[in-house]
Amino acid sequence: MHLQDTRGRVASLAVRSRSVAACDVDVAKIRREGFQLIRGFGADAARLELELNRVSKRKLFHSARVGGVVHQFRVLPYSENLSEQRSGGGYHTDFMFQPRPPEFVALLCIRPDPRHPFYGRNQVVHRDAFLERIRGVFGITEAELLNLPVKYNFTGRAPIVLPLLHRLDGERIFKLHTSLMQAERVSSFSDLPLKAAIEAVCGDIAQEIVLDSGDLLIVSNHCALHRRSECTVAFEHDGRSFQSRELATIRFDV
Ligand SMILES: [Fe+2]
Repeated sequence: MHLQDTRGRVASLAVRSRSVAACDVDVAKIRREGFQLIRGFGADAARLELELNRVSKRKLFHSARVGGVVHQFRVLPYSENLSEQRSGGGYHTDFMFQPRPPEFVALLCIRPDPRHPFYGRNQVVHRDAFLERIRGVFGITEAELLNLPVKYNFTGRAPIVLPLLHRLDGERIFKLHTSLMQAERVSSFSDLPLKAAIEAVCGDIAQEIVLDSGDLLIVSNHCALHRRSECTVAFEHDGRSFQSRELATIRFDV
C-alpha cells in the first residue's frame, strides 16, 4: 500500500512538473525576433486560454468564423480549410483583412505530426530580415512595398487590393497571404509572380521551428510572417481512423 501511494505521488508530481511550464510571454522578444517558443507548456488548450487571458488582460481575439477564441483543429486527409490541409501553407498573417489584425498568434501543439520531426514544422520570417533581403535581391524598398498593390481573389466576390506592408500606430506591419494571391507577374520583382518571389525569399531566411506535444509557439502577427510545412496522416489498420497533427490557436493583443 505504501509503495503504491509513493508511486502514485511520484507519478502525479512528474506529470504536473511537465505540464506547468511558466507562461512567461515576452512581448519585447516577440516583436524583436518575430516569435517566442515555450517548451513544455502542456497540451492543454483550456489552460492556454486562461493564461493568455491573464497575459492579454482579457484581449483575446474573438472570431465569428472560429466561433470563439480558441481554434482547435487537426490535419485531415482532405479539407478546403487551409489550416487543416496536408500540403504546406503559404507565408501569411492571420485575419489580414481586418483593419486591426490581432498582434499575436499562439500555436499550441496538442499532437505532433505522425512523422515528427520531419513533417509538420513551422516557419517564421521577421519583417526586418524580409525587408533587407527583398531589397538585396530585387532592389525594392520599404516605401515601394507600402504602395505596391497586391490583388486577392475570392470566388463570387470583387477582388480585394491591399499592399503587403502597412502603417499601424507608427509601426510597419504585414498584411499578406501568399496562398490567396493571384499568380500575376510583377515587373519590379524580376517579372516573377509575386507569390513565387515572396515564398522564395522567405524560404531562404525563415526560422525553422519544430513543435513537440505541449510546446507553445507565439508569433508576431504584425512584424512576422508564418506558415506550416507539409503534414501527414497515419491511417489505423481499420482504415476508418487516423493520427495527425493537432493544434490549438488563440490570437490576442496586449
Ligand atoms: Fe496562421
